[in-house]
Amino acid sequence: MTDTSTATAASIPLAPRALPLLGHALPLLRDPLAFIMSLSEYRKMVRVRLGPSTAVMICDPALTRQVFLNDRVFDKGGPIYDRISEVIGDGLSTCSYPLHRRQRRLCQPSFHPTRLVGYGAVFARAAQLKAASWNDGDVLDITQEMMTLTTRATMETMFSGALPAETMRQSLTDTATIVSAFFRRMMTPAPLRRLPTRQKRRYDDARNRLSATIAEIVAERRADPTDRADLLSALVAAVDEESEGGQKQLNDHELADEALTFFLGGMETTAITLAWALHLLATNPDIQHRLQVETDDVLAAGRLEASHLPELDLASRVVTETLRLYPPAWMMTRAVRQDTELGGVRLKGGSTIVLSPYLLHRRPDLYTEPDRFDPDRWTGAQPDRNTYIPFGVGARKCIGDQFALAEAILALTAIVARWELTPIGDEPFKPKVETSLSSRGLTLRIGARRTAGAGTAQLHAAAPRSTPAQPVTEPGAPTCPVTHQE
Ligand code: HEM
Repeated sequence: MTDTSTATAASIPLAPRALPLLGHALPLLRDPLAFIMSLSEYRKMVRVRLGPSTAVMICDPALTRQVFLNDRVFDKGGPIYDRISEVIGDGLSTCSYPLHRRQRRLCQPSFHPTRLVGYGAVFARAAQLKAASWNDGDVLDITQEMMTLTTRATMETMFSGALPAETMRQSLTDTATIVSAFFRRMMTPAPLRRLPTRQKRRYDDARNRLSATIAEIVAERRADPTDRADLLSALVAAVDEESEGGQKQLNDHELADEALTFFLGGMETTAITLAWALHLLATNPDIQHRLQVETDDVLAAGRLEASHLPELDLASRVVTETLRLYPPAWMMTRAVRQDTELGGVRLKGGSTIVLSPYLLHRRPDLYTEPDRFDPDRWTGAQPDRNTYIPFGVGARKCIGDQFALAEAILALTAIVARWELTPIGDEPFKPKVETSLSSRGLTLRIGARRTAGAGTAQLHAAAPRSTPAQPVTEPGAPTCPVTHQE
């Protein structure tokens, strides 16, 4: 509803250093995080120019929540999602409000807590296999290692099987090409985006190849829809009783869009969260040591299982703190669908809103020593729903949050149980800012643990065989110690 007594958007201050035509594209491309943090002094809202268009950046936690919760007016859209939808069409993460609720109801069964038991078993096995593949003294491209880990785990939980090695390798390369192109394409004006450059051809090829791979998997499953207790089976079987006009199930096209959405949405975000967590542990050896002690205690009774999740308290707090410092979705956009009012300011339909978990998570008035890695800030404390938002808020909140947390906590545990991680060199490692806060290029040294604990023995004793996700029969699925509930 529009209130005529409120100020217009022109009253919102414009961030300094805007250039004609380019707006703030240069500082955003050169050092986006420094630029975003420089805006936190505005407290409420500030205008930012992305080429010819102007966006309103929200700096205040309560206003951020208000935008997230009113997804009918502040709908998915804006430069980030416009670019992402070039790849995943109208999948759950990009579809607009009128399509969203039906799609969410159809996708939700895939992430039901009871299914997490089967997925957790896959995560634990995949992480132990990955940890067993390294050698003492290896210097690893840790982001690449975590990408192969989460790709395998995602493939197995989604499609209950691995792709042929070459297809898997190509899918990884294509995913990296697509994801790293999103941010650049977001900053590039439309006519330039269409130019047939080498970069554009690489992007188009990667997009077409990955879509074709997923479409092939979906077509095979349609031909043989036996329930394999994986994500795709749940999607194929999902029925929405509330849908009208006979559209109670996902059609082939929608299925492929959702499968690609889960694949792209889940794999890279979880991989970089893990890479950052390992980096933070390597640079904070005291916390790494405490985590090894926790791991040894928990694994003294047997091999790592999903049922250990509730006991992995420090591992869970390490993941929570990693997501505070390096939220993969560091910035999100929204399209204002109709004239409205926000924080006493009138906004026109068609405006663009920018939200940033990174900005909120690092504000010194919201977190003590915000740049310090301190998992103990979460001891006995649940994250605040206004100021801690790595998975977003409300109806569009991440559908895979518990899936990702379980995967990350189990993988961290499997790795530190076996290895000691140390950084390479003394220079601080800076994120590569893309659509996500990438850890691309991060290397770590892996060494045998000086004090081999029970966990190491357990992991050495049983290098598990990879098997498809098991049907879930247990009545109560383990939940992560830190839940990110609304
Ligand atoms: C650490 C890992 C992850 C992080 C930090 C993360 C973060 C997010 C965020 C911030 C959103 C909301 C975006 C917005 O409101 O604009 C989101 C949505 C979404 N995420 Fe995740 N995500 C992660 C893992 C996953 C996984 C594992 C999957 C699936 C397997 C997944 C699938 C999705 C989907 C489908 C949506 C759209 C939900 C909707 O609009 O209803 N994500 N994610």
